[in-house]
Amino acid sequence: MSEDLKIASGAKSEQYASLLPQIRALIEGESDAVSNLANIAAALKEQFGWFWVGFYMVKNGELVVGPFQGPVACTRIRKGKGVCGASWQEARTLIVPDVEAFPGHIACSSLSRSEIVVPIFHQGEIVGVLDVDSAELNTFDEEDQRWLEELVKAIPGVNVR
Ligand code: SME
Repeated sequence: MSEDLKIASGAKSEQYASLLPQIRALIEGESDAVSNLANIAAALKEQFGWFWVGFYMVKNGELVVGPFQGPVACTRIRKGKGVCGASWQEARTLIVPDVEAFPGHIACSSLSRSEIVVPIFHQGEIVGVLDVDSAELNTFDEEDQRWLEELVKAIPGVNVR
């Protein structure tokens, strides 16, 4: 496909519905995990303008920051630590409407106010998480969860070790 993203306006569901097939087309046939994760982070950032969008990948028992869009971020997160580490430990998506109310939240930036973290499974194991931060409170809900869980399923065999 062309490298130009078609940016949709309208309801969140319309934006996701326009974006997901474009992301699928972008990563289809490309086996390089870093390239795919980089393009997914860029596409999400371009469509939604969120503060920080990126991936933390499981490497040697820790989450290590991978491709992302946004300000520089913490490099390593241990299991159970912060929202990302909790999502990994609990093996489920976490929606945090107000990061200051989340015990143990890791503040990579004081500008981040709400967050969603979606685990990425490969062959039954969590291989990383998609982390999205917003500069506003209450940005994410179950609709984001459904679409983003759908999106991470489209990532082919993530293995960036
Ligand atoms: N807020 C995250 C850390 C990662 S950064 O926000 C990019 C957390 O508590 O897991």
